[in-house]
Amino acid sequence: MTALPLAAAPLAASVAPAPRLLDLRSEFPGVPETWAYLDAAATAQKPRAVIEAIARAYGEDYATVHRGVYARSARMTEAYEDARACVARFIGADAGELVFVRGATEAINLVAQSWGAANIGPGDRILLSRLEHHSNIVPWRMLADRVGAVIDVAPLTEDGRIDEAALIACITPETKLVSIAHVSNVLGSVADVSRIAAAAHAAGAKLLVDGCQAAPRMALDMAALDCDFYVFSGHKLYGPTGIGVLFARADILAAMPPWQGGGAMIEEVHFEHVSYTAPPLRFEAGTPHIVGAIGLAAAISWVEQVGIAAIEAHEAALTALARAELESLGVRIFGPSHSAGILSFAVGEVHPHDVATILDEGGVAIRAGHHCAQPLMRHLGVPATARASVSAHTTPADIARLAEGVKRVMRIFG
Ligand code: ALA
Repeated sequence: MTALPLAAAPLAASVAPAPRLLDLRSEFPGVPETWAYLDAAATAQKPRAVIEAIARAYGEDYATVHRGVYARSARMTEAYEDARACVARFIGADAGELVFVRGATEAINLVAQSWGAANIGPGDRILLSRLEHHSNIVPWRMLADRVGAVIDVAPLTEDGRIDEAALIACITPETKLVSIAHVSNVLGSVADVSRIAAAAHAAGAKLLVDGCQAAPRMALDMAALDCDFYVFSGHKLYGPTGIGVLFARADILAAMPPWQGGGAMIEEVHFEHVSYTAPPLRFEAGTPHIVGAIGLAAAISWVEQVGIAAIEAHEAALTALARAELESLGVRIFGPSHSAGILSFAVGEVHPHDVATILDEGGVAIRAGHHCAQPLMRHLGVPATARASVSAHTTPADIARLAEGVKRVMRIFG
């Protein structure tokens, strides 16, 4: 990796950025120099290595998996299972603990409908936090309504982190599951997962962690985090859409009833009864997203080559730079003073959609809206926020363009 000159952007005087940044822009054909793509938290742009791996997998390598007896299919099966092993290694898990799903949303629905329906009953409690994405609220609300369980909501600290002490105080003997985001998709706040895991386990509850925003920007080790379930989506980790990951501890996965029925997840089928194969295939009914899994493995290989610690440091420097630039303009920033790659903000009373539209005219892409976190918006007392999120390819010039765009918003709206 080469060093990127920080002098490329006007820096706020108070910022002391990291001396070296990654210089990866040329590896992203979807991100021209003139476009500041600051919506990585919604979906990451793809490095060329990933696009090429996908093209190969749909081209000269393509065949089905787990069915064909011809050589091409056997090689594809090997590539698909190698992809599972690659993802497992990346998060410190065993391949047998890794189920490929469509994305984090599907992973949480799988856990709710399989493990949840078997283990959560009337009067049991599910503990969430106030900053959760809808995908970590709605599946639990649906389950609670079906089985008569109760949802508890842990509060946030004043600066928008999960209040871990208060969350732990919410755990009761009836709490069967704690389910929280590792990194908030709105505020970038980071939860102390292992502390929450220890408290959940001491009370006999399981812990599910939504790692969508953590997987692209920090090293993960399932043993160290000690969670029972961990989920994330491939497309936020520089991989393709339509592929995601459910990690579940081997003993838990082995006891979980099947979820969707169909081909590939059975041992024997009779009209009178069916026996099911072992996990993880028990949870992968139908032809899987073969190319998605291979694309995700290519993305992980790319991340490993760059170094997840280098990406984390790069993003931290650029997030700090963006924060300093926006604060110097008097912009309100939501969330803690140290956030992982994500900054939600408001420009006076200007609606975030207007902010995003004006930024877009200046070649800056951010997300504006409720970010699938309506309860958090209510907590913040706003209908929506503007959100900038950085990535491995973000440069100081992108941040300078963001600041210029915000100045334009201020000029237009007086
Ligand atoms: N969860 C994604 C986001 O925050 C879609 O933008």
